[in-house]
Amino acid sequence: MKALILSGGKGTRLRPITHTGAKQLIPVANKPILFYAIEAIRDAGIQDIGIIVGDTAEEVRNAVADGRRFGVKITYIQQDEPLGLAHAVLIARDFLQDESFVMYLGDNLIKSGITKLVEQFKQESPNSQILLAHVKNPNQFGVAELEDSRVIRLEEKPKKPKSDLALVGVYMFDKNIHTAVRSIKPSKRGELEITDAIQWLIDNNFKVLPHIVTGWWKDTGKLEDMLEANRMMLDLYETDIKGEVDANSRVEFKVVIEEGAIVKNSTIRGPAAIGSGAQIINSYIGPFTSISSGTQVINSEIEHSIILENCLIEDVGIKIEDSLVGRNVEVKKLNEKPKVYRLLLGDNSKVGLP
Ligand code: G1P
Repeated sequence: MKALILSGGKGTRLRPITHTGAKQLIPVANKPILFYAIEAIRDAGIQDIGIIVGDTAEEVRNAVADGRRFGVKITYIQQDEPLGLAHAVLIARDFLQDESFVMYLGDNLIKSGITKLVEQFKQESPNSQILLAHVKNPNQFGVAELEDSRVIRLEEKPKKPKSDLALVGVYMFDKNIHTAVRSIKPSKRGELEITDAIQWLIDNNFKVLPHIVTGWWKDTGKLEDMLEANRMMLDLYETDIKGEVDANSRVEFKVVIEEGAIVKNSTIRGPAAIGSGAQIINSYIGPFTSISSGTQVINSEIEHSIILENCLIEDVGIKIEDSLVGRNVEVKKLNEKPKVYRLLLGDNSKVGLP
């Protein structure tokens, strides 16, 4: 069995971060989302993984490389335009051959992993099996209708959903999906939809089974989802302090402080993660915050936020909350007169002022 991870796409809902980087590489609890997908696939016993890459191919290649450090073998497949999930299957034909495979959307996080799904697929040998979850907002997802424990209909982002069962971004297929993706036409949004390909399987009497996720999962396409994913993952960690914490600092509840990080005269209240080489000086890091490696927080307070690598947050007079800050960002009080805001912000940035 093989796996296909989708790590292309434009990540429009997470701009400006995604102007310069892949959304799948944004860290959650200081680990890129994509790495959770690779690990879940590996833990399900699959080593041969194809990754579909787009504009951010180089960044993804640099981060994942040949996959050896995860104990898997990675093949990169270039998708020049994001023409849909079924298009990704179409261009992965040479890699996939006639083997069954799991397709995993690289921006999805599933707490319980996919081992049970893969096992059930192997045991029952349907033509496809789709991961589903009960959600409150089904109109934002692909939605499935079930009858006698089979999937009978799928609809992509319906205005009037017929159930509350959303397609989580993980699908299992046998080789018949290749005929399906060649048989469908692009949707109204101009994409070859995987939901249409699965519907084609159903319409042509292939067996499509549901697998309902009971635990937590998240499609991390938006800021709020990203922060929720960060909360969820940080909460799973146990305290592990490898960096330096001075005698004037307090570390409370579950906190991970990586090697080379320095905490001076500060309070870190977990769940929180401080990356390698980060410096927290005279500051407060509150629950559900991830500070990536190399970032400095000086005389400032941060809570419920994700701060990426090599930022400088200094003398910020009011607590920073519910924020996602990209790499190499500086947020700093100016000790000048007159008092002004001095901004250098990328396109689609958002600044909330008190
Ligand atoms: C895609 C699928 C959708 C699925 C969702 C899960 O949507 O088209 O059926 O429910 O992923 O994350 P997208 O996130 O590309 O809008």
